[in-house]
Amino acid sequence: MKPKNTILVIDDEPATLKVMEANLSREGFSVITALDGAAALDLLDKERIDVIIADYMMPNLDGLSLLARLREQGVDIPTIIITAHGSIEHAVKAMQLGALTYLTKPINYDELLLVLNRCLEQTALKQEIHRLRQEVESRYSFSNIIGKSHKMQEIFELIEDLANTDATILIYGETGTGKELIAKAIHYNSTRRDKPFVRVNCAALPENLLESELFGHERGAFTGAIKTRIGRFEEADSGTIFLDEVGDIPPSTQAKLLRVLQEKTFERLGSNQSIQVDVRVISATNKDLQDAISKGEFREDLFYRLNVVVIQVPPLRERMEDLPLLAVHFTRLYAEKFKKDIETITPEAIQSLFNYRWPGNIRELENVIERAVIIEKSKRIEEATIQKCLLPKKNEKEFRYFVYDGVPFKKAKTDLLNRFERDYITRLLEKHGGRIVDAAREAQMDYKNFCEKMRRHGLSKWDFKA
Ligand SMILES: Nc1ncnc2c1ncn2[C@@H]1O[C@H](COP(=O)(O)OP(=O)(O)OP(=O)(O)O)[C@@H](O)[C@H]1O
Ligand SMILES: [Mg+2]
Repeated sequence: MKPKNTILVIDDEPATLKVMEANLSREGFSVITALDGAAALDLLDKERIDVIIADYMMPNLDGLSLLARLREQGVDIPTIIITAHGSIEHAVKAMQLGALTYLTKPINYDELLLVLNRCLEQTALKQEIHRLRQEVESRYSFSNIIGKSHKMQEIFELIEDLANTDATILIYGETGTGKELIAKAIHYNSTRRDKPFVRVNCAALPENLLESELFGHERGAFTGAIKTRIGRFEEADSGTIFLDEVGDIPPSTQAKLLRVLQEKTFERLGSNQSIQVDVRVISATNKDLQDAISKGEFREDLFYRLNVVVIQVPPLRERMEDLPLLAVHFTRLYAEKFKKDIETITPEAIQSLFNYRWPGNIRELENVIERAVIIEKSKRIEEATIQKCLLPKKNEKEFRYFVYDGVPFKKAKTDLLNRFERDYITRLLEKHGGRIVDAAREAQMDYKNFCEKMRRHGLSKWDFKA
């Protein structure tokens, strides 16, 4: 059974307190009463209170002074102020002092219950987000890597164990799963942390340039080599080199890389003087290297040199329990970055993130939350905002990204239909500049039905106004 929520009611009229107590107890609340603000402060010291209901007019310490006092003491309990009918200026003052809301006498109990439940929901939400934040800060974070899933916890342990060895590491994982972040964590937790961490994107350069990038060149080694240049391996001496997209290294460079790994020596292009370095090698790829080997695209001997220790980073869809933590983490990160007054992301918004397959993994989630933070107008990231940010960017072929593997047929079908619906409606709204009547007519859909679908997908006509 859920523990009862405790309400503290403060009023100088014993009769009012009696009625309140009876009504609220009947609704399943535990009720504590006080005849004035001073007595209330005493109780607040001793009891765990979830919501305060206070009369505005009281002897000793009135409702307003009580609010001011609570604020001074940093007490953050939602408070409802009861004012006499027609004294709206009191209400305004109370709200300025942080009261959640006010009600006027005579009290309408249905309204009071509604307000009470809203208060409690907010408190629960605050507590939940607080808990998630603490989790992010403690157990579930390692060198900026967030993850509470079993798989991520295993990776944290592995990183710790590996950091102080010189073992060569190969990190496997789909795009956006955090391979680079892990490589950095290993370096910055190792004894090499004060030495360089050098990243080379092996997929970004054509063959000849990649060799010169890795090993450097002497002046005149090739047309355009006007100056001697040291390579990334030399730059990384005593530190770590991170060979990103290692699966894309062309065969001739593979041979040279193999030699560095075996003998720790190489020559700059255009030189025959051997250079010796002490470099730890971490590489990463999202390619299946075994497959590349069987196709003759990747050298097997190099593979075994790189593949001494393997870290498999699971895609986000296989560790969705990390999603709420990541969502809270990115919300905070970007709220700070863009100086926006956004405190939380609503549970509904987080829920809607669960309905997506995240082919772009954590990077994609990060981008969605970043966009949401930018466009959010309230203090919390709402579900509707997330829906907008999940919309395919213009001209993007959304279906191409839709992944079915591991999804039961029924679920995949519903997902796809949902996406189709959202896509279809979005396109029509775009075309008609947000005029629902015209969009619904073209779809040959009933106006009401069209609006209902817009609501379901968090679409607003205002987003389509030219
Ligand atoms: N577990 C995590 N916790 C917090 N942030 C993460 C996590 N994993 C990834 N990120 C963030 O997601 C983004 C992508 O991560 P990263 O660049 O490390 O991925 P990657 O696997 O190297 O991707 P690619 O294969 O596309 O290069 C970065 O901004 C990174 O900070
Ligand atoms: Mg990367």
